[in-house]
Amino acid sequence: MNALVQRPRVLEAVRQALKRSPVVALLGPRQCGKTTLAHQLTGADSHFFDLESTLDRQALSLAAERTLAPLRGMVVLDEVQTMPQLLPVLRVLADRRETPARFLLLGSASPDLIRGAAESLAGRVAFVQLGGFDVTETGADSADQLWERGGFPRSFLAPNDAGSYAWRQDFIETFLSRDTARFGIALPPEGLRRFWTMLAHLHGGSLNAAELGRALDLDQKTASRYVDILCGAFLVRRLPPWFENTGKRLVKAHKIYLRDTGLLHALLGLRTPMEVRSHPRLGASWEGFALEHAINLCNAERDAYFWGTHGGAELDLLINRGGAKIGFEFKFSELPTTTKSMRVAMTDLKLKRLFVVYPGTRRFELDDDIIALPLTGLLAESASL
Ligand SMILES: Nc1ncnc2c1ncn2[C@@H]1O[C@H](COP(=O)(O)OP(=O)(O)O)[C@@H](O)[C@H]1O
Ligand SMILES: [Mg+2]
Repeated sequence: MNALVQRPRVLEAVRQALKRSPVVALLGPRQCGKTTLAHQLTGADSHFFDLESTLDRQALSLAAERTLAPLRGMVVLDEVQTMPQLLPVLRVLADRRETPARFLLLGSASPDLIRGAAESLAGRVAFVQLGGFDVTETGADSADQLWERGGFPRSFLAPNDAGSYAWRQDFIETFLSRDTARFGIALPPEGLRRFWTMLAHLHGGSLNAAELGRALDLDQKTASRYVDILCGAFLVRRLPPWFENTGKRLVKAHKIYLRDTGLLHALLGLRTPMEVRSHPRLGASWEGFALEHAINLCNAERDAYFWGTHGGAELDLLINRGGAKIGFEFKFSELPTTTKSMRVAMTDLKLKRLFVVYPGTRRFELDDDIIALPLTGLLAESASL
């Protein structure tokens, strides 16, 4: 077995969250490493319930409160989305005056996707998101492999490209045939597969659910539902537009990205690094890879937007931090330069700084407050945002 890839940043984020809050939810797509991480956090005084195991399920469905209330130390509830009826019980336990136990919930669906979850957990739970590996975890030398294969541990660590590709095809198949049903969603897997593949072709473009639906013979409601499911399973990202009155007409549609480039490449049928590099969507793929890094490493899940005017000025990512706006452009180019669009964004949005993230290794200034930044430089910059 491979040695574990260390993930100190997330580990620390969960530890800190557990200090603040008696209930912490670690959420991320299936197979991204949640259970593995939880085992690194637990010790002899921990209790682990796997809600996909029949025994653990039985114990908790018969007498949840009686089973959980006496426990001390850390209590892990894995795959919590499969038993949403536990959430009101957790709420009661979280409200106990002393904190006799801390609960770490692991889940692979966002609370919006599970009926009642958002309300039951509101205000009581600290959320931490986990995705696939990022470049700070795998090391800069592996950045290309991480991009080509994506960050799911089994895909990234596969012994060869064929094994990685096969793993991703299995992941897609399993998601369509089994996981969606586990969320309590009944839908024909082929429809969702075609839809997901369509999104792969649109990666980095704007999302128009009605138009998409028409192309696939789905009504708009179904198309929106498919987007919700893929977003709620942390597989697709919908980036909202930033609005600010600058007197220009703004693009209002969301932008859509597949969060993992390995799955993007698998859905596009790109088996090898060569095939990835000769595909026309190569630039968009890398830009999505960098965007996902920027949002995660800057901890900007809740304040990430894109900006675009009908005149053509654009900003791939805008992070709004306490009123200060930081812009990001992602350029798949060894030698990025400033563009007119960047200067318009600087002026119109009064950006504090604009980072042009590119696949090189050197950080350098392109213009006043416009900085070319390698992917690996993001973490250091995020500290100063
Ligand atoms: N940090 C890591 N280093 C190496 N392999 C990992 C790591 N995290 C997870 N894996 C492997 O990836 C697979 C999925 O991990 P798991 O923790 O079960 O994911 P999840 O609970 O999110 O579904 C497992 O085979 C696991 O061994
Ligand atoms: Mg798990």
